[in-house]
Amino acid sequence: MDFPGTHILSVKQFELEDVEKIFKVADSMEPYAHRRLITKVLEGAILGNMFFEPSTRTRVSFGCAFNLLGGHVRETTDVKTSAISKGESLYDTARVISGYSDVIVMRHPKPGSVEEFARASRVPVLNGGDGANEHPSQALLDLYTLKKELGSRGQDIDGMKIAMVGDLKHGRTVHSLSQLLMLHKNIKITLIAPTELRMPEDIVNDLRKSGHDVTETDDMEAGLVDNDTLYLTRIQEERFTTKIEADIYRGRYRLNQAIYTRYCQPNTVIMHPLPRDSRAEANELDNDLNLHPSLAIFRQTDNGVLIRMALFALTLGVYENIEETATEVPWYTERRF
Ligand code: NCD
Repeated sequence: MDFPGTHILSVKQFELEDVEKIFKVADSMEPYAHRRLITKVLEGAILGNMFFEPSTRTRVSFGCAFNLLGGHVRETTDVKTSAISKGESLYDTARVISGYSDVIVMRHPKPGSVEEFARASRVPVLNGGDGANEHPSQALLDLYTLKKELGSRGQDIDGMKIAMVGDLKHGRTVHSLSQLLMLHKNIKITLIAPTELRMPEDIVNDLRKSGHDVTETDDMEAGLVDNDTLYLTRIQEERFTTKIEADIYRGRYRLNQAIYTRYCQPNTVIMHPLPRDSRAEANELDNDLNLHPSLAIFRQTDNGVLIRMALFALTLGVYENIEETATEVPWYTERRF
C-alpha cells in the first residue's frame, strides 16, 4: 500500500508486505528511540493527539514517538473539556482539528467512530482504539514483539502456538492481533475465555479459513499447555453495562509463577497489552513473574514507540529522510533499553 497521506484505521488494510515494511522502518527507528541519535525530520509538524477514552501508554507513546521525530504534540484528553460535550459532531471536530494538525491520533469509545472522523479529516488519522473494535498500532507492536521474542529462539510467527486469555469478546487488541495472524501460516491458536466472553464468531471463522488450528475453551489450565506464547488480557470493565456484571468474570483467569511452572512450557513468552488489573480481585498477571526473562510486557511497551514512529514516518512520507538531520544526543543517557 501507499503509506503517505493514508489513514490507519484497521489492520485489515494491510497485506503481509505492508506489515513487513512497517517493521523494517520500526527497526531503523531504534537509534532515535533509544536516545543515541536525534532527528528533526518532523520539525514544525503538529500531532493532534485526541483521546476520548482513558489511556496512558498509547497516548504517551504516540506523543513520544512524534517528539522523537522532532514534531510537536497537542493533546485533547477529555470529552468534558472538549466541544464534543456541547454536542459538536465528529465531522465538525475533524474538520477543525485537521486544520490545526499534520496528523491526528484518535481514541474513542464508539466502534467505527475513528473511521467516521477520518472521513471528514484533511490529514491522516491513526486509530488509537475505537471501542471494542480495533487497535491497529497495538496489534502491530504485539506482532513485532512476538517476532523478536520468537526470532531470538530461532522460531517464526508461521507455525507458532499462541493462547489468548481473558475477555476476548470486548478486547480490541486481540481482535486486531487475530486479523494480523491471518496473514501468517499454520498457527495453533487456543482461545481461553468464559463462554459469554468468547472471541467474536466471525473472527474465529476467519482464523480457521486462514488455515489456522483454532481451539476454544473456558478451561485455562488445559489451554495453557503446549504454547510458545500466552497473550493475557484484562476484563474490559468499561464495555459492560454494570461493574457487577464485570465482577462475575474478574479474577477467573490468573497467571502467576506457580501456575506458569505447573502448566506452561518452559520459556513460554508472556504478553499483555497492559494495563494489567493488579487489584487482588483481578490480578490476571501476578507481580511474582515480574523478573521472569520470558515476561515481554515491558518490551512490548518499548517496542510500541518504534512502531508508532514508523507509522508517523510512513504516513507523513519522511522515513527515507531521517538520517539527513541526525545528530548525536548530547545529554546523559543511561543504558535503559
Ligand atoms: C488496551 C486498550 O486500550 O485496548 N490498552 C492499551 O492500549 N495498551 C488494553 C486494555 O485496556 O485492556
